[in-house]
Amino acid sequence: MNFGWIDPNLLRDFQAEGTDAYRLCTIEHGWVERFGSDVLISFKTVLARERLLEELQTWADSVGFHVRRVFARFISRESERREPPALIVGDPNESLQTIATEWYLRFGIDFGTGYSSGLFLDQRENRRYVRQFAPRRLLNCFAYTCSFSICAACNGASTLNIDLSKKYLTRGRENFALNNLSTIDHRFITDDVRSVLPRLARRGEKFDVIILDPPTFSRSPRGKTFQVQHDFVSLLISALAVAERDAHVLVSTNCSALSERALEVMARYCLKKTGRAATFHRPLPLPDFPPRTGASSVWLALR
Ligand SMILES: C[S@@+](CC[C@H](N)C(=O)[O-])C[C@H]1O[C@@H](n2cnc3c(N)ncnc32)[C@H](O)[C@@H]1O
Repeated sequence: MNFGWIDPNLLRDFQAEGTDAYRLCTIEHGWVERFGSDVLISFKTVLARERLLEELQTWADSVGFHVRRVFARFISRESERREPPALIVGDPNESLQTIATEWYLRFGIDFGTGYSSGLFLDQRENRRYVRQFAPRRLLNCFAYTCSFSICAACNGASTLNIDLSKKYLTRGRENFALNNLSTIDHRFITDDVRSVLPRLARRGEKFDVIILDPPTFSRSPRGKTFQVQHDFVSLLISALAVAERDAHVLVSTNCSALSERALEVMARYCLKKTGRAATFHRPLPLPDFPPRTGASSVWLALR
């Protein structure tokens, strides 16, 4: 697989739609992403890192893109070995934070505090769906920095954001502020999604859009593990209990073992178990991601 650098026409399309966060290049052992005027190289081998860094300069000059800074991070299979990106080109005295935009919405990016910088670019098309659906009540499970909620809130939705990490939810609140959105109609719960969903069901809460984009593996502070291949079924079943009759539910994962076909099979099983029915819809492919390099996603339209 050698997709290379994106077409300059695509760059112009992104600019015209108010987006400056997207993937610039994909090669076999690495890729390059743009976040505003900063660039992040993700690499699996030193050779890939060197090649991407060298090509970046030539490519950026050829399309007239002024790169402010370049960060690089090693893609490790073991999550314990995942480190924040390192600054390899640019002023080390500048703040490690910046702002990226997607359809004129603003998202805080932080290259200094974790392995991921704040916005998952392969969810762009799913965020667009959320904006299009214009939900009244969005349930954002595994909310991270609440990017899906920003897309719903900008169209008037109230949102409920659940994440194990208080730090990420704080960044989520900051994303609301960055977009001049009040958080009055929005709730932020620091807890395990699997404990919160049954509580919401007992209270009779219902949502018209539900986001399920869990990590491949996680461990809660109480030591309870989540393994996507094992736990997605029970997660979706609990989520269906709080879904409106005609809700849209996103089922997504970046676990490479779970294809869209596998997600559909799993979702059909859950629908059957809960006596619900739905049509399935796969998001449009992203123009900056080669096939099978982003998350696998399926939307369920309940009926
Ligand atoms: C893959 S990220 C989600 C990305 C998010 N959907 C987005 O596109 O911005 C996974 C998130 O799930 C959170 N998380 C992991 N296990 C969790 C659990 N059991 N309950 C709640 N949150 C969890 C992590 O803290 C992290 O923020």
